[in-house]
Formats: sequence, C-alpha cells, structure tokens
Amino acid sequence: MKNIILTGFMGTGKTSVSRELSRITGFPSMDSDAEIVAREKMSINDIFAKKGEKFFRDVETAIIKEISKLHDVIISTGGGAVLRVQNIEALKTNGVVVCLTASPEEILRRTKGDSGRPLLQVEDPLSKINELLTKRMPYYERADIMLETEGKTPRQIAEEILKEIGWKP
Ligand code: S3P
Repeated sequence: MKNIILTGFMGTGKTSVSRELSRITGFPSMDSDAEIVAREKMSINDIFAKKGEKFFRDVETAIIKEISKLHDVIISTGGGAVLRVQNIEALKTNGVVVCLTASPEEILRRTKGDSGRPLLQVEDPLSKINELLTKRMPYYERADIMLETEGKTPRQIAEEILKEIGWKP
C-alpha cells in the first residue's frame, strides 16, 4: 500500500483520522509533531517560544524527509507542514496526500480551549484562522485528495479516504 499522508489546518482531525486509518488497515500511524516533540524533548509551545518558528520548521522538514522514506505507514502532519513545498514533494514519493478541510468557525470550535497551538494563542483566534487559511490554501490544494470533514466522524472520514484510494483489506 502507498503511505497515506494527512495534511490540513489545525483542528481538521488529522491525528484522530490517522489513528482510525491505522485501526482499519493495521498499518502503523505516526505524527510529525509527536516526532518533533520526542526528538527535541520539548513541547511545541516551548520550541516556538525558546527556539522560534524557523527552528521548528527546520526540524519538521528533517523529520518529514525521514518518514517519507517509510512504506506502509499512515502519517499525520502539522498544519503548517505544507508551507515548504519540498515537504509535500517528499511525502508524495511513497504516498498519497489527503488534505482534510473544515470551515474557520468549525476549526475555532475544535481548537478552542487547547493551549498547545502557539499560533492560535492570540486575542482574536478566528481572524488568525481566517488569515492563515487564506495564505495557506494554495499549499493545501497541492494534496492529491481534498476532503471536507464537517459533520463526519473520524471513522467515516477514514472509510471515505480508503474508498477513494481503492484500499481493499
Ligand atoms: C501548526 C500546526 C500544529 C503544530 C504547530 C504549528 C501550524 O499542528 O505543528 O503548532 O503551523 O499550523 P496541528 O495541525 O496538528 O495542530
């Protein structure tokens, strides 16, 4: 099987859908943010605060380069991983890239109360979400498949992805 890579904005459900995909297919799932935290032994918030976003993006690119070489894995990525086109290109070499989408209001609802996302720790998170979404959309659209997630469970989304790529047990 080709790797399945999940991209998309914060709060679009990448991590929970990747776990669901792993449960159905039996292939392991991994998360680029979790790999970054494990490697740096620091939370995402601390990495942003103490080392800056550029450092975070450099580690993210290095990790993505490594995990892109794997086979038969489900990979969820951080919402900004698409910003470097080299990341998407690396991920596409062994895999199909699926971008999960949701409306700004739904993203706000899903991310509210979670202080682990430094980019949304601002006074007006909804306008920040709108601003980032507008800026990032051309990058998200480089995915092979775009999938709307609103009103669907992670299980339904995972099944939709597997149907779309023609996966058979
Ligand atoms: C980011 C998204 C986060 C994490 C970091 C930066 C972004 O991942 O990588 O806070 O730039 O959109 P999630 O999309 O898993 O929240």
